[in-house]
Amino acid sequence: MAGFGALIEILKKDPKKIVFTEGTDPRIIEASSRLLGSDFLQPILIGKEEEVKAAAEEAGFNIRGAVIIDPDNYDRFDEMCELFCELRKSKGVTMEQAQFTCKQANYFGTMLVKMGVADALLGGATYSTADTVRPALQVIKTKPGNSIVSSCFIMVRNSATGAREVLAMGDCAINIKPSAEELAEIAGETAECAKIFGIDPKIAMLSYSTLGSGKGEDVDKMREATKLARVKYPNIDIDGELQFDAAVSPRVAKTKCPDSSVAGHANTFIFPDINAGNIGYKIAQRLGNFEAYGPILLGLNAPINDLSRGCNAQEVYSMAIITAALA
Ligand SMILES: CC(C)(COP(=O)(O)OP(=O)(O)OC[C@H]1O[C@@H](n2cnc3c(N)ncnc32)[C@H](O)[C@@H]1OP(=O)(O)O)[C@@H](O)C(=O)NCCC(=O)NCCS
Repeated sequence: MAGFGALIEILKKDPKKIVFTEGTDPRIIEASSRLLGSDFLQPILIGKEEEVKAAAEEAGFNIRGAVIIDPDNYDRFDEMCELFCELRKSKGVTMEQAQFTCKQANYFGTMLVKMGVADALLGGATYSTADTVRPALQVIKTKPGNSIVSSCFIMVRNSATGAREVLAMGDCAINIKPSAEELAEIAGETAECAKIFGIDPKIAMLSYSTLGSGKGEDVDKMREATKLARVKYPNIDIDGELQFDAAVSPRVAKTKCPDSSVAGHANTFIFPDINAGNIGYKIAQRLGNFEAYGPILLGLNAPINDLSRGCNAQEVYSMAIITAALA
């Protein structure tokens, strides 16, 4: 994997500002304290100054120098609300509604990114995925050329030989039941993200069937998605539909699909829906001892990412670097 060292080097050349929506959370404070000791990523904490400082003191971390912004006392709040009304005018959002919505830290932080006060956002230490992602979908929007925002996880494990195994898995967190067209786009976006982490993507479009061995709607969907992805991304190695064993085991691949250039060696996995994806990445994490980085949001106009509510300070620190480096 392009280790964190490489991502930090990217940031050192072009330092960024990242906003944390949960400024009083001890894990956010610990990660911010580490970042403040660096010269590549400036944390912005949302919250009341006295509450953030009290939380830092209680947690025992020094956050001197951190930028703290309080939605109740922000000198550009009116400008923010006007911009929010403008962005949401098709929904008929009033100034009063904007003032209420922009006071919420998840929306406030997202608007700071939209206004260019911050380059990136990391939230979700206490907010659900939906509450972290929704403001981004509404305000930051899908980037030109993309039809959806999706996500992937980068999975990392040190093997017995000391080599690092790095895999990509998508979409395990956002799109509940993607169509064949959306799955093709998810494959392309996941492959682009995989490359940033040093993976030369070999994409398996996963199913309970291998090249026609099983039947069903979802099998047809993955086969169609493979076809579309191959047309859309002719330079990426993609095969499907493939069962997981055929995708990763050269022995099984030899029996089930000997002519596939991906099977047996896949390193980028596209799941048919969020059920399969979310369960799949957690099995790799909990039983396969992979560290899971993500969900990394793909296809957004600015880098915004979601933390797991069970995250620790190290994960916050790592995700902050990943998020900002993607800016
Ligand atoms: C992502 C998610 C929160 C969006 O749900 P939602 O807020 O109910 O979505 P809505 O349909 O109300 O759409 C809200 C806005 O987001 C947009 N949107 C929704 N999904 C989108 C997507 N995948 N890509 C781009 N835009 C999207 C909608 O177009 C809408 O925009 P608008 O308000 O400007 O019209 C939802 O798909 C979800 O809950 N996914 C699963 C999250 C989860 O639980 N993950 C597991 C834990 S990691």
